Formats: sequence, structure tokens, C-alpha cells
Amino acid sequence: MKITATLISLAAAAGIVAAGKFEPSEARPDVDIVEGAFIIEYEDGFNHAKANSFFNSRKVNYKLRGEFNQFNGVSIDVRSSHKGEDLAKIPGVKRVWPVERYQLPKQNLSKEDPASPHLTGSHKMTGVDYVQKTFKYTGKGIKVGVIDSGVDYTHPALGGCFGRGCRVRYGIIGADARKVKAPQPFVGVAPEVTFGAYRIFSCAGRGSNDNIMMAMELAFNQGMNIINMSLGSGSAFRSTPIAVLSDRLTARGMSVVASAGNDGSDGVWSVSNAGLGDLSTSVASFDNIAQAYFYLSYAGKEYPYAFSSSWGKDINLPASATIVPVLDKDGTLSDGCLPESYAGTNVTGKVVLVLGDTTRCKSGGRGAAGKAAGAAGMIVQSVPFGLNNLGGNPDFPMAAIENEAGNQILAAARKNPASQIKWSTKKKSFRLEGGGTPSDFSSWGFDGELRLKPDVAGPGGNILSTYPVKLGSYAIESGTSMSSPYVAGAHALLFNAHKKILRGQDARQILKNTATPGKFFNSKEIAPVAKQGAGLINIKNAINVKTLFSPDKIELLDSVHFAGKSVEVKIKNVGKRTATYTLSHEAAQSAISYRGGNTFPLGDPILAKDQATVKFSQDKVTVRAGQTAKVKIQFKEPKSGKAEEFPFYSGYIVATPNGKDSVPVRIPYGGIKGDISKVPIQDTDFGTPVLLVQNSKTGQSGPIPDGHKINWAVEQPYIYSRLGSHTPSLSIRLFETATSKQIGYINTQAGRDLGAVGRNRNLNPNTGKPAFSSYAWRNGDVFETLTSATPFKVPAGNYSVALVAQRKLTKGDSPKDFETFVLAKISY
Ligand SMILES: *[C@@H]1O[C@H](CO)[C@@H](O)[C@H](O)[C@H]1NC(C)=O
Ligand SMILES: *[C@@H]1O[C@H](CO)[C@@H](O)[C@H](O)[C@H]1NC(C)=O
Ligand SMILES: *[C@@H]1O[C@H](CO)[C@@H](O)[C@H](O)[C@H]1NC(C)=O
Ligand SMILES: *[C@@H]1O[C@H](CO)[C@@H](O)[C@H](O)[C@H]1NC(C)=O
Repeated sequence: MKITATLISLAAAAGIVAAGKFEPSEARPDVDIVEGAFIIEYEDGFNHAKANSFFNSRKVNYKLRGEFNQFNGVSIDVRSSHKGEDLAKIPGVKRVWPVERYQLPKQNLSKEDPASPHLTGSHKMTGVDYVQKTFKYTGKGIKVGVIDSGVDYTHPALGGCFGRGCRVRYGIIGADARKVKAPQPFVGVAPEVTFGAYRIFSCAGRGSNDNIMMAMELAFNQGMNIINMSLGSGSAFRSTPIAVLSDRLTARGMSVVASAGNDGSDGVWSVSNAGLGDLSTSVASFDNIAQAYFYLSYAGKEYPYAFSSSWGKDINLPASATIVPVLDKDGTLSDGCLPESYAGTNVTGKVVLVLGDTTRCKSGGRGAAGKAAGAAGMIVQSVPFGLNNLGGNPDFPMAAIENEAGNQILAAARKNPASQIKWSTKKKSFRLEGGGTPSDFSSWGFDGELRLKPDVAGPGGNILSTYPVKLGSYAIESGTSMSSPYVAGAHALLFNAHKKILRGQDARQILKNTATPGKFFNSKEIAPVAKQGAGLINIKNAINVKTLFSPDKIELLDSVHFAGKSVEVKIKNVGKRTATYTLSHEAAQSAISYRGGNTFPLGDPILAKDQATVKFSQDKVTVRAGQTAKVKIQFKEPKSGKAEEFPFYSGYIVATPNGKDSVPVRIPYGGIKGDISKVPIQDTDFGTPVLLVQNSKTGQSGPIPDGHKINWAVEQPYIYSRLGSHTPSLSIRLFETATSKQIGYINTQAGRDLGAVGRNRNLNPNTGKPAFSSYAWRNGDVFETLTSATPFKVPAGNYSVALVAQRKLTKGDSPKDFETFVLAKISY
């Protein structure tokens, strides 16, 4: 179907008509929309008192949920039939967002004893040990606000009920924003930091966006210098009210630090909303370099192990339980999944060694097969490296060992099958395979507009932390929720060193300039910027650095909008002596997510060597103390790499000052080869997008046959879609089939303008099945434009229903700016 010029005129008209903008919500499994509740931002110079008379004159019946002061606006519950689009038209209103409730990201809680001193590893990685020892900085005098959406917690209300019948309280430990000295180090980084904990929760155990904003403002008003926050929400655009407020607070002197998310297995475009503000810091994770583990001694060597979560404790088997490797016919280690694997081997009372490959079975099935064969326990060689998380079974001891440990134990068992295993009763610190490298679970950037997020990384894999943020409760956890408070703590040390509170964007720049780009395990190449941002923070360097290198990131965008032809960077010498800087380029690996025409990004991007070339206007520059020099950089896109695979390429610009203790500084850059507007938005691999209709009488649902006339009394149509990538604007439209003339927009539970929509996750976290968005088509009337106040009745005729997504970085003023799928042909 050809979409005619009507699109152009409608889009243009929408731009003129709209006073304020309604920013619809996204239908995602982990986000609920609170019906009838909205966050409203006013134009500068306007306020709620002025707006109130307009609300009244338009008969908007509402109740105030909360009034903000740093963010110029309110959140309200609307009892009249006014929609977000209607509110956007009230004079003085700049933007309107629905109130959303988020589900918390799940944290993996290890049963490890939190009292054990495990922090040495992560503090070595980041230079925190050096800074604490050498300078005795402790974060004293710095206030960190911890904003946490909590579950299952009741507290006296503050600010009344937020949300229908549901008293949302943002409590603070005790009755007030009690400031407490942490009884144990605040994530160990800045032990004397003072912090306020702002817990956000609803009766349903979920946090809503207006609540979080209230807590952010309260933290600001109570003088918090840094806030650490996370919302378990997927990735969208920066125009969320939280990002807007984050930027405002940062501009007023606060640092907003947020986790990049734990969706590493979803592939690119997945960095979490919370840190998407232009000025806020989105934090990725690196695995802790060392960690204490129970271990087994075998043939003269010690191997750390991780017991299965169902077993839940250390392993203690008798000396007679020697190791028996389970082998396939070709003599290699078997996965131990099938009963046949054990045939011909007497494993009775022995510990079997198997391969942790999960193609055929998971740890539960593997354990059951080993136990049925008579084994006393099972050791699993981790694949591909590190220590695999085993679920296992409660009545059978199972332990994951590192990949290389598996090879060594196999060789030793072959040499001397009688060797005995000694199981430790205590833990010891081991440097693990993959330690000090970017964490698998850490979410990949960039964001929907090719902005370089995440910004920087902190240690987040296997970290001692508070759990929950109730003082005194500590645990070992993994997740960017660990790396984000770590980086918040690093800010406190930096402020101590500077003897003042730095502005958020300045602290971010210093931490990014001095971070260390990491490599994936066993790789010689630097890992992509989309995974690690500027790299792992190094607080020692951040404190010792004598240079500011700006900007703190260079966004090259795509081939069409390529922004690398002439980029100016500034080198400011903040030291006391003249310095000569040598400029250089460090390329990182590229990441390919679209190969062979897939419409959904690969969960595991393919790493390649597509590298930009970089030319400097001068290779060396001498800068006197206190002065700033400018250098021009000319980037050229990688020659290798196929434009149709949209490789994410990236790297670092480095300025290395002379002098032996001088700290080099870096700026990360990145872009995409190819035309970003051609990145597929809808995933078509699962038969979506599709229009299904459900019959309430028969209970049956299925695709609509051609020419079907919807019986609105008994039939409910739903549009299902799965977005592999962001769109700045999504809508469902009706066209006259014969003429392709656009008739209007259908109304859904999320409104008629579905707005900017982030990509779907690969799997729905609740079901483990592919994640989809669904939009219920409310009734047969359509709206002529996105801002029409009232819908009209569609005259009898033949029509097509189409799902229309604006392509990225387009203006939206031409039909080719949209990806259009005709979902059904119906008649009225
Ligand atoms: C810090 O914020 C993260 C998310 O960014 C949250 O999940 C975590 O619980 C907070 N941690 C601490 C110790 O404040
Ligand atoms: C298997 O080994 C166990 C213990 O070593 C022994 O008691 C049993 O007889 C053996 N079974 C066979 C079939 O050899
Ligand atoms: C938590 O554990 C699950 C299952 O063991 C694993 O797939 C996931 O990557 C882990 N997440 C984190 C943040 O470690
Ligand atoms: C709709 O299409 C059918 C054939 O598919 C045709 O018979 C009918 O006349 C059309 N209706 C209108 C109003 O054009």
C-alpha cells in the first residue's frame, strides 16, 4: 500500500495545532499505566495556580496527587473524561505524561555471608583502596540520597495517597529523612558519607514515576549532593519526566547516578531509562576482580566453586567420593544430560564431572540424571567461562567450577583416578575467569537517538552491598544496581579531594576522562563503548588527574547524519606546570546486531573489527598551566563492515601528558555505519505485527479475515507488536483501501498517539516467553488527527488498518520516514 501525501500535511498540521505535547506511555510488560493519572509540566513562567482556572473553565475534574517545585508541574488524578491529549491543550501546559508504575528489577541475592571482607577486589580495580589509604578520604561531609523503589514495606504516609485507593508513601528510614552514619561502609567506597534513604513504594509493591520524582525533589531539597537511583524500566527516550527532572537537578548542582540496567542478554538499544538524562550518569557494570569462595583441593591445586542455589550450602562429601569424568564416545566431557551418558561408567558414590553446556538440558535435569545413575555429587565445568549459576536440585550437591578448572581436573583425574577431593569448610579469595571485565548482564547502549549511553562503569558483579536499603542488612549481589551506588560513592571521594561539591556534569567528565576501558575475557581488543561507556572508573586517577578533556563523549551518529567530519576537543591543563600532550586513538571492537536480515537485534552482538580512522590537526600540543588548547579531529567511518548490518563502531581519543606520574585522559566516541532510518523497527519473526480479534461470546481469537466487519458488541480487536528498536512515534491508522487515503487514528487503551516507544525486551520477565506489546482497539470511531478532541464515525466502506512507526532520526514529514505495516483489511 502506498501512503499518500496526507501523512505530510497531517504531521505538519499536528505541529501547528498542538499547544502542549502529550507524551504517551509504552505498553510494556514491566510498566503499568495508572489510568486517569498524569504528570503535567508547565511552560516557564506559568504555574499551577494559573493553570487551575483553565482546568476549571474546561471542566477538568481532578485531584492533586503531588506538586513539584524543581520540576515546574504537578501530578493529578483526573475524574472527568479528559485524556492526556486534552490536558496538553490547556494554556500554559508544556508536556503531559501518564503516571506509570514500574516493577523492580530482580536482583540475584547470593546466600553468601555478607560479613566476609570481599571488597578488596573491587577496590583494587577502581583505585579506591589507594585513595582510602593514601588520602584518608571517606566521603565525610557528602550526602548521598538513595532512591529505591521498594517492595513489601509499610510506613507512615508522607504526602497522602498516590494512586487509586493505594496509599503510596515515600518513607524514609524512620519517620523523616533521617541521616544516618552507615554502620558499615556505604558500599565500602565512602564509609563516612551521610545518606538519606528515600523509599518509594505502593501498596502493590511497585514504584510510580511521580513518586520517584517527589523523592528526587525531596532529596534535593534536603541537600543531598548525589542521588543513586534505579527504576526497573526498559529503554526509551530521554523525554521521560524523570530524565527531565534529573537534568534540572544536575544543572542545579546535584549528581544523578543511575544504573544502566541488567538486560545484557537483550542486546543493543537496551540501556535503562533512568540514566538517560543528558547530564545524568548511566552506570554499566564490570565483574569484581576477586571474590571469596568455597573451594575444592584436587591433585595439589585449589579450585573455587559455586554451589547450586537449590543446594544452598558448601559441599562436604567423604574422601571415597572421588572424581569420575563422564565422557562422550569421542572421549570428550559429556553434558551428562541423558541416562545413557552414564552407561558403562560406575559412578555409584562418586562425584561426576560433566560439561555445563545447556543446549540439551539445564542444571536441574543434569543433576537428576547424575543422581539417578548413583552419583554422590556433581561438578559442572562452566561454559564458556567463569562460574555458571546453577539452579540444581535440593537433594543433590552440585557445584560449578571455572572452565579452565574443568580441563585441569579432567586431565588430573585421567592421570590418577584415585586422587581424593578435599572440600573446604572456609572461603578464600580467588581471582575468577572474567573478573575485571564488563559484566555479561550489563545492558548495551546506545539509546534510540544514538546517544552514547551508558556513560561509565563500576564494579557490579559479585559486590557486597546493602540489601535492602534498610541499614544493617547486607548481602552479595550482582547487577548494575551495585555498580551505580559504587560510582555514587566514588563521587563523594572526588568531592573530598576537591574540597567542594562538583557539579554533576563536571564530576561525570572527570570520572569518564580517567576511566579505564576494559576488554572482554580472553580478548585482546577493547570492548565496545556501547557496553562499557568510558570504561571502569579509576578514582585514584580521577583524583590525581591534572587535565580536563572535553566533551565527555563524541556522538558520530550514522552515515547519513555523520557528525565526525570536524570535531573540536578541548584540553585544559588544571595542573601547576606546563604539559605537552600526545594525542592518539584507541579503537574498540565493533558490535553487529543485524546479520542475515533479522528484524530483532541479536541478544549477543557479534564482535568485529570495524574501526574508524582518526586524524588530528596536531599530534602534540603544549598547554601552559591553567590554559586550554583546542584540537580538531577528523573521523572517517570504518571501511570494513556492511552498512546493512549497522555495525556499532567506537573507540577512544586519548591525550597523554608528559611526565612520569601523569594521568592520560580519554573521550569515548561511537557511531553506526549505515542509515539508521533503515534499522528494522517491527520484529516480523513471530508473525507480528498482527491484528487479532477476540470474540467474547465464543472466547475464540484469531486474525481478522479480509473484508470482515467488526461487531463491536462482541468482538475486541488487539494489535500485537514487538519492537526490535525504538521509534520516536508510533500510531495505528485507518486508510481507505481503494485510494490509500488516510482516514484517521484509532484509539487504544494507551491513547491514539502511542508516541515515542522503546524496544521490547527479548523475553517477558514474567513468562520467560518472547515479549510483545498489545494495544486494545477501544471502539470503531477514529480521530482525524492525533490532537482531534472527538472521534468521528467511519462511513461504510473498505479500509486498511496499519501500524505506522517513524524511523529513527527522521523528521517525520515524508512517507519514507515511516515504517508501515498493513495489519488487516476490514469493512465498515
Ligand atoms: C542504588 O540505586 C540502585 C539502582 O540504581 C538501587 O537498586 C540500589 O538498591 C541502590 N543501592 C544503594 C545501596 O543505595
Ligand atoms: C560400583 O562401585 C560401587 C562402589 O565402588 C561398588 O560397590 C559396586 O559393586 C560397583 N558396581 C558395579 C556394577 O561394578
Ligand atoms: C541472575 O541469575 C539468573 C539465573 O541464574 C541469570 O540468568 C542472570 O543473568 C543473573 N542476573 C544477574 C544480574 O546476575
Ligand atoms: C468493499 O469491497 C467489496 C469487495 O471486496 C465490494 O463488494 C464492496 O462494494 C466494497 N464496498 C464499498 C463501500 O466500496
